[in-house]
Amino acid sequence: MTMMKAKVKGPVVVTGAGGYVGSWLVMKLLQQGYTVRATVRDPTNMKKVKPLLDLPGAEANLSLWKADLNDEGSFDAAISGCTGVFHVATPMDFESKDPESEVIKPAVKGVLGIMRSCKRAGTVQRVIFTSSAGTVNVEEHQKPEYDENTWSDIEFCRNIKMTGWMYFVSKTLAEKAAWDYARENDIDLVTIIPTLVVGPFISSTMPPSMVTALSLITGNEAHYSIIKQIQLVHLDDLCDAHIFLLNHPRAKGRYICSSHDATIHDLAKIIRDNYPQYHIPQKIEGIEDKIQPVHFSSKKLLQLGFKYKYSMKEMFDEAIKSCIKKNLIPMKTAEALPGNGKLEVTGEQLKCMTNEMTETYFDLSLLEKKLYTHSTGLLV
Ligand SMILES: NC(=O)c1ccc[n+]([C@@H]2O[C@H](COP(=O)([O-])OP(=O)(O)OC[C@H]3O[C@@H](n4cnc5c(N)ncnc54)[C@H](OP(=O)(O)O)[C@@H]3O)[C@@H](O)[C@H]2O)c1
Repeated sequence: MTMMKAKVKGPVVVTGAGGYVGSWLVMKLLQQGYTVRATVRDPTNMKKVKPLLDLPGAEANLSLWKADLNDEGSFDAAISGCTGVFHVATPMDFESKDPESEVIKPAVKGVLGIMRSCKRAGTVQRVIFTSSAGTVNVEEHQKPEYDENTWSDIEFCRNIKMTGWMYFVSKTLAEKAAWDYARENDIDLVTIIPTLVVGPFISSTMPPSMVTALSLITGNEAHYSIIKQIQLVHLDDLCDAHIFLLNHPRAKGRYICSSHDATIHDLAKIIRDNYPQYHIPQKIEGIEDKIQPVHFSSKKLLQLGFKYKYSMKEMFDEAIKSCIKKNLIPMKTAEALPGNGKLEVTGEQLKCMTNEMTETYFDLSLLEKKLYTHSTGLLV
């Protein structure tokens, strides 16, 4: 009898492997038998890398590599000898005090450095760059529908400086730079354009997209402009699409990956109907009742044969459960806080503000304990 030998897949690189999307993608690749090289900025940061090292199959098929987007050439070692590269890493600091050098420059310089590493390696058959809906539809007047042919208006972002503007600029410039380099250097590049990613996660810190997706729960009003007319995709669907595009022989160009369109009112209803322990206002100040969703078309990805698996309710159910399990959001919000009190989550910081007090919880894992004993008794 001849023994069937399992096909060796990869090695493939995942940049930003400690993040929300990167860590789930590493998990899926390991599940599918790939050898994975995960790049992180600090392999000694156990809070970030332990979820990766604990993954089934990690011992045999996962290795960690130190690399930074600001450090040209630092991805060379990880990429050398690889067949595929998923470039997922990007600075996500919406609160940056120096957005040009902390967000925009590393994103653009970083992608070019990675493309050069791929060229030097000579073994990389395809690069999958995780782009963003922020490269497509950030402009003064929303169209009813978007596809892969449009680009965000960078000047508009720089002038208006809406929440997340530096991220939208960084992703747009980075994706355009990647396309220019790929064309000039004959690199097989495919970009994937996720809308807001929602779902369960294995990373240990509050994912940036949860700050946005769950802003109605935390009362983080700065993010309401982003979810006013929003499109969503489940994290698991997004990671499946990354692997699908790596392997599809006819994949070419940009691909929107988005399964649902919604308005802030639709999100409020889903949370209100399924999580009554969270107080979600009936009326959202400054946002009209009758706004229409804006459609992001995934037609190109679907025509290639990709299928989405998850509903919007599943996205929120699983995201909320993951956040509660990791103590990243409160178990419950009171119906009303006095003096327009509110909870505000930014990265790993959570502030609880009322007229009587402002308290900052730097470590969100302390939050649950504190909420139970809070002197005002407003939050449990
Ligand atoms: N989540 C969404 O809703 C969404 C939507 C559209 C597109 N995307 C795209 O998906 C990708 C992943 O986002 P995410 O949601 O997973 O965010 P995330 O959890 O913040 O992950 C971002 C990753 O980038 C890494 N990174 C940041 N600055 C870096 C630098 N200078 N050098 C090397 N690595 C650096 C971080 O590494 P450390 O772990 O070392 O901090 C982190 O692992 C991004 O490209 C983003 O644009 C996400």
